[in-house]
Amino acid sequence: MTLSFSLILRPVRGPSTSRFQNPYVICLIVIAGVIILAVTIALLIHFLAFDQKAYFYRSTFQILNVKYSNQLDSPATQEYRSLSEKIESMITKAFKESNLRNQFVRAHVVKIRQDGNGVRADVVMKFRFTRNYNGATMKSRIESVLHQMLNNSGNLEINHSTEITSITDQDTVNIFTNACGVRPDLMTLSEERIIGGTKAEEGDWPWQVSLQVNNVHHCGGILISEVWILTAAHCFRSYPEPYQWTVNFGISTLLPKLRVRVRTISVHNNYNPITHENDIAAVYLNQRVTFTKNIHTVCLPEATQNIPPGSTAYVTGWGSRRYIGNAVTELEQGRVKIISNEECNGPASYNGAVFSGMLCAGLPQGGVDACQGDSGGPLVQEDSRRIWFLVGIVSWGYRCGLPDKPGVYTRVTTYRNWITEKTGI
Ligand code: ARG
Repeated sequence: MTLSFSLILRPVRGPSTSRFQNPYVICLIVIAGVIILAVTIALLIHFLAFDQKAYFYRSTFQILNVKYSNQLDSPATQEYRSLSEKIESMITKAFKESNLRNQFVRAHVVKIRQDGNGVRADVVMKFRFTRNYNGATMKSRIESVLHQMLNNSGNLEINHSTEITSITDQDTVNIFTNACGVRPDLMTLSEERIIGGTKAEEGDWPWQVSLQVNNVHHCGGILISEVWILTAAHCFRSYPEPYQWTVNFGISTLLPKLRVRVRTISVHNNYNPITHENDIAAVYLNQRVTFTKNIHTVCLPEATQNIPPGSTAYVTGWGSRRYIGNAVTELEQGRVKIISNEECNGPASYNGAVFSGMLCAGLPQGGVDACQGDSGGPLVQEDSRRIWFLVGIVSWGYRCGLPDKPGVYTRVTTYRNWITEKTGI
């Protein structure tokens, strides 16, 4: 590029050739040349020095001084959370203090397993390198940071083999697909997590399903295993038979990504249609679903999990956008806040109609709420490790989105043992 530039210029300085005598033409040529040169240099610098690509690595840490207990089986327990957080922040600290601080992006514990008396933690780590990096060098640089970390691992006693394996983007997606409560941002260990607007994109709420009768959407539902869906008991009042229903996956109810028949429906024995108490049902699918990036489970909370009033939650569904209206065909999401039962039972609000097995969520000024057709769908919250938990099931409300009349949900923690009893989960 530089060469052709000077070739263009040479005749300009030479003895008069009629085409290049006009000063405007000369000026234009010079400007064009400078622009081309600048763009070329910028592109070269960009590709060689700044165009970074994400690379994923997997490693296993053997932790000797943490006793294994079955509390570490579920990502919902305090034990699992605090151990994962400890490991993640230890790794983050080690890289932030190393010469790889600008390349390191995130570490995430994907599994904790029993290992003798201790535990083993599988971790996925993300780095950003420029395209001209050397794979073998990088791997050994990462390994050396991890080795140094072992001598300086705070109150965790970690065993010495910190072998790392380079894994593909697809491997990373596959690992996260089999974990519960993972949305696309965590799947790529990305730094940003934006949930904007009302329209959901494919894979945003991979546990959301549409329960349909004759291919018409009736209720939302929540995927909690390969074969089990949670939903609201009141969804089955008009159509109580399993053969009437299909469970549909994907964000469009018109073109589902997968359609599965229902084998059995277990409605809570004490469901009360007048008070809406115990508005929960478990649906057993006729076949196992194969999890994908866009179809997998949400995590269930522990029965003791605290859901603080004022914390943020998301409700999703194909319900109508106003009280009298039609279901929509593309999945929508709404951001709401948890409201205490005490406040929700206030005289201006539901005045005592909210029982302890229910949970309120909305906005003080109204405007964002579930509505007709959202029933049975999820109200979810994200934990500090960006894992999503089911806290409510859309149950009832006075009209939709009115101030002081928030959505009322089945409180999942109250029914946590019922869920285990019915589904084994
Ligand atoms: N019962 C409704 C249904 O069957 C859900 C109502 C939720 N209402 C509300 N304002 N959050 O779809």
